Amino acid sequence: MAKYSILVVNGPNLNMLGVREPEIYGHETLKDLEKMLQNVADELDVKIEFYQSNHEGDIVDTIQKSYKKVDFILLNAGAYTHTSVAIRDALAGIDMPFYEIHISNVHKREEFRHHSFLSDVAVGVIVGFGLDGYEFALRGAVRYLDRKHQE
Ligand code: DQA
Repeated sequence: MAKYSILVVNGPNLNMLGVREPEIYGHETLKDLEKMLQNVADELDVKIEFYQSNHEGDIVDTIQKSYKKVDFILLNAGAYTHTSVAIRDALAGIDMPFYEIHISNVHKREEFRHHSFLSDVAVGVIVGFGLDGYEFALRGAVRYLDRKHQE
């Protein structure tokens, strides 16, 4: 049996990776990203699941459904990062450990991207590493869970 269960949640417009502003988000697609993460998950012996939605309420539902089923969430909430109290409350409500991920360096971009409703309830934040950030987050999540289980 796999060591842990990890859920990757991508928010609005991340289904358009590869098409969307490639100078910011690169040329790889969401499918490419998921394939890469699946390989890393196999290497680390963890179960990984992928979810993407453009709808805030659906993301809230998915987070709620992960209660007691998932050990850690890797979350790129896209634009909802900067607006959604509901997604923050969903994560806090089930006390779910998660990393907040951004492909781009949001601090180098427009001011409205500098604020996050998620960062202060996240275990950590990974910003500006491109799609590699998801791999770092996955490896980091497994180390975090290993340490937790040794406590
Ligand atoms: C993003 C940054 C957000 O500001 C933006 O709305 C996105 C993607 C990123 O991965 O860099 O949709 O989360």
